[in-house]
Order: sequence, then structure tokens, then C-alpha cells
Amino acid sequence: MCGIVGYIGPRNATPIILDGLKRLEYRGYDSAGIAVLTARGVELRREVGKLHRLQTLVENEPLEGNLGIGHTRWATHGAPSRRNAHPHLSENGKVVVVHNGIVENFLVLRDELAAEGAQFRSETDSEVIAHLIERFLSRDTGLVEAVRQTLRLLKGSNAVVVMSALEPDKIVTARLGNAGGIVLGFGEGEMLVASDLPAILEHTRRVAFLEPRQMAVVQRDGVEVFTLEGEKVALKPTVAPWDPVAAEKGEYRHFMQKEIHEQVRGLADTIAGRVDFETGRVYLDTLNLTAETAQRIRKIFITACGTAYHAGLVGKILIERIARVPVEVMVASEFRYADPLVGPDDVVLAISQSGETADTLAAMEEGRSKGAMLWSIVNAIGSQAMRIADGYISMQVGPEIGVASTKAYTAPLVDLYMLAVLLGDLCGVLPEGERRRLVNDLRLVPDLVGRVLEREDEAVAVAKKLKDIDNCLYLGRGINMPTAYEGALKLKEISYIHAEGYPAGEMKHGPIALLDEDTPVIAIAIQDPWYEKMLSQVKQAKARGAPVIAVATDGDELIPPVADAVLWVPPTPWLLSPVVTVVPLQMLAYHIAAMRGLDVDQPRNLAKSVTVE
Ligand code: M6R
Repeated sequence: MCGIVGYIGPRNATPIILDGLKRLEYRGYDSAGIAVLTARGVELRREVGKLHRLQTLVENEPLEGNLGIGHTRWATHGAPSRRNAHPHLSENGKVVVVHNGIVENFLVLRDELAAEGAQFRSETDSEVIAHLIERFLSRDTGLVEAVRQTLRLLKGSNAVVVMSALEPDKIVTARLGNAGGIVLGFGEGEMLVASDLPAILEHTRRVAFLEPRQMAVVQRDGVEVFTLEGEKVALKPTVAPWDPVAAEKGEYRHFMQKEIHEQVRGLADTIAGRVDFETGRVYLDTLNLTAETAQRIRKIFITACGTAYHAGLVGKILIERIARVPVEVMVASEFRYADPLVGPDDVVLAISQSGETADTLAAMEEGRSKGAMLWSIVNAIGSQAMRIADGYISMQVGPEIGVASTKAYTAPLVDLYMLAVLLGDLCGVLPEGERRRLVNDLRLVPDLVGRVLEREDEAVAVAKKLKDIDNCLYLGRGINMPTAYEGALKLKEISYIHAEGYPAGEMKHGPIALLDEDTPVIAIAIQDPWYEKMLSQVKQAKARGAPVIAVATDGDELIPPVADAVLWVPPTPWLLSPVVTVVPLQMLAYHIAAMRGLDVDQPRNLAKSVTVE
């Protein structure tokens, strides 16, 4: 996952930046780079692979200067390579940019720049930012205004840090959404900029965080912060704790809240390097999947526990719809006792954040003993579920500390979507136009999630209403039925409120008897193929006196009159909608538990890794 460090002050920027990047290594990356303004002008050093390789390069070709920015990169657009590594230069080499996130409209921007004669040195989306800033600068605009005008053209959730040889007294940085934060560090006559707190704590504990759509002009002796519209913002630095674990929480109260917000960045990294937006193809190299093997698959058995199981339920719909391969989803604790009809032409696909869940590993063993091929989708690198599989997809979301799984739920949804597209392609059942459309939709995901996160206030308002309830029902249909299960699981495990997820169509067969004014119904009623049915379900719940909270699509005029509150989400391609609709439910559960004063990150009786049966 990408990391950023920048420095301006009296000291040599190089060791400070390299040390800061080292402290972000835990996030994972595949290349790294640094730019420093030296006596010779802006100089770059970039290297593929681990940071020590960049350090060796810098030892052999030293950099000395008081202004610099550095970056660790997970490839999104273009393979890991020196020329794709950040920082990126503008055409005249005077503007330098590092960037986290995905510029959704980069193809359009790049084509426009190319039509004006721009020459690109990399395949990245980030490079267009440097080119655009240079264009605006050449129109007699200062760096700050050139960055602002550029940012206005970018779509998506992005964090950007810019320096220029033309204005060596400043770093300009901005946060466009939730694709990663920007933290500013206030030193003695020096300032630091980073994507994450651990990168700068060595130098200062006085820090401030940028909000989405804010930009900062950082100089040696201080900082000015503006909205993207140019309005000045008062910044209140706080003192960060020394405790490295607490420091990792950054601006958040709990890991769970941080991890909910990290989903934008995690999803960008999940897509990173695995899709080619130009060809509309998916690459999941670690799965070791050939066309011949794909065409041989008779059935996929997805097996997992808890939240990972819910991801599997969505995966069934995705794989069957997109790749037309039959899928069965089984709770891992039941798998080995069910004597499942698994054979050599089948795949057992385990989903596990920890990769160490005893029941999931036992299900994999059962699959192995019956001759099936084993795949896994795993977050913990090097875990058992990764090691024993014939092929795996790693989640790329970084460590998940909160017991309640959040970013390790949305990442596998996207992994399963990519797997479905890959399978459909290899099996020859996915027409090219459809494949390109499905891949193109992926580009929207980080920003759609970011837009939901910006509405945390709505979840807080609903949490205030619901914090004292004893029971509630989550209803969904189709691809968002598992979202109802997951929303209910999130609430019950951290708030200890009894919550059930139910297929909405089943209500009339029994559970509707539970409804009264003390049993709220949380209904996922977005504009998807099941919308009409959900709308009628909401009306039925309302008619029984139950308070209704709806998750609905922006602009829907039929839901507000029949709901007591709405958690809004932006319009989303329906096959990807579970990635977006679960986010308000995660925030709702989090805020209810926090308002009840509970130990959100370590709820009673639960463990992060369940290594016993
Ligand atoms: O590590 P795993 O993904 O295999 O864990 C599976 C479940 O134990 C886990 O998802 C659990 O349900 C979480 N507490 C849910 O938030």
C-alpha cells in the first residue's frame, strides 16, 4: 500500500525521508523512490523492490538538499518498474509529484494532454498530475493555484504531495477523498508531510491531519490550509502519543474506525496491478490459473467463517453471474462433517483474513483429501491458508487489528469480482465488451466507498437513535442479502445488541411476527434489480410500526417518505454494490458500540484469529 513522506527544513531531507518510508514498510509496496532538490536541481532516485535497494542506490548516488518527497508504491496503473515508481516529474522536470489513490479519469486526461503534445515517461495515472500542474504553471499561475486547478480536474479519492524547483520554499499537499490521509508534522523550523503518523513521529509529535478536500501549503516555519475552493481553514495541531500502537491509530479513536476509513486505500491497493483498464483484463498471477484449468472446473466450493463467509455468499452470485461456473458456499465449521461431494475437477476456495482459522483450514484439508484444487483469499501474508493453497489471492489491505472485520470484508468482495471476470474470460463465456465494462466499473470503487465515508455524520445520527435498542433486523435481497447478514454480525459482535440478518422475502414466513415499535428494521433498498421488492418490504415493516432505517441510493424519492432515516449511498454498478452498501452499516455498528462505551476493538469473548475448532 502506498506511503508518502516529505520534508522541508534546514536538514538534509534524504535520510529523513528514507527513514520515514522505512517506517511505512509494514503497509507493503513493490517499488520506492525519492526526489530531492539538490544544488543541481530536482534529482530522482527510484528502485523496484524493497527499500534497502533504494537506500543502496542513494548511497551510490547521494542526494543532498533541504526539500524532498518520497514514496512507496503498490502498482495500480503499470507494472512495478523504475519508470512507474514515484515521484513523477512534469515534462520540464520542474514539478515533482507523489500520489496515493486512483485518478479515475486519467485516461481522458492523458488523452487530452497527449493531444496537446505531452510525452509521458510512465504508464501511471499519477504522471498526469505533474503534467497538468506544469500546464497551469506555464499560464503565469503560482504553484499553489496550479495545484488547486489541477485537483479540480481529478476524479476519485486521492492524496497528492507536490514540490517544484520553481518555488523551492514550499511543499503543496492535498487530500481529495479518503484514499489515504495526509498528516502534517510541526518541527522546530522544519515541517514534515506524510501519509501515516509513524513516518514522522521520530521528528515531532505535534501533528495535524487534513480533511478530505483540503490542501496545505507547507513551509519551513508553518502551514496554511485551504479548502479546494480556496477558503482558509484554521488548523489545530494536536500532540500524538509516543506509543507506536496508539500512534498507528492516527486520527481515529479505535482501530475499527481507522480500518473502516482505510477501505478506500485498501480497495485501490486491491485493484492495484491486477487489472489493465486499457485492455479490460484481469491478472491474478498468484492463482496460477490457466485457461485449460479454468475450463476443467466443474464446481467451486467456497468455504469460510463469519464475515469471510458473507463475502463468499456475494462471491457465489458474482462467479455464477459473470463466469457461469456453479458455486456452493459452506460455513467452514460444517464443511468436513457434511461429506461434501467434492472431486478432482472441483475447487475449494477458502476465504480468511487471518489465514489461520482452524475450521477454514480443516475445510481446506477436507478438499485436499478429496483431490480438489485449493485456492485461498487471505490477508495475512505467509499464513497457513496461503501456504497450503495451490493458488491464492492476497487481500492487500494491511494488518487488520480490530476484531470486527471491515476492510478484510470489502477487499475479498473485489477479489471475487476480479476472479469472476478472469474465470469468465478464460472460460470464453464473457464477451469482450462486457468484460471491458466490468473491469472499467472497478475503477469507481475506491471513490464510491470514499463518498460514503464522507457521510459518517449520517451514521452517527442514526446511531444516536438506535444506541439503546435490544433487538433489530437487517433485511436485504439478492446480492445485498449477505450485506444484511454482515450488517447484523457487525452490530451484534461489538455492541452486544441482538441483531439478525434476514432475506427480506422470508419475512412473511415468520419473522414479521417480531416487528413492533421497539424492533427497528434496517433495510438495504438501493437501486438494484431487487429494488421494487425491497421498497414493498420497507412499506410492510413500516405498516407494522417498526422504525425503518433504509440504505438507499442518492436521489431516491420513494424511500424517504416510508423510512424514519436514510443512510445514503451513491449510485453503484449493482454487481459491486455490496462493497459500498456495507460501509454505512459498519459505521453504524461502530458508532453504536462506541456510544455504549464498549471495547470496540476487543469485544468480549471474541478473538481476532480463531485457531481452535
Ligand atoms: O480470519 P478469518 O477471516 O478466517 O476469520 C473468520 C471469522 O472469525 C471472522 O470473520 C469473524 O466473524 C469476525 N469477528 C467478524 O467481524
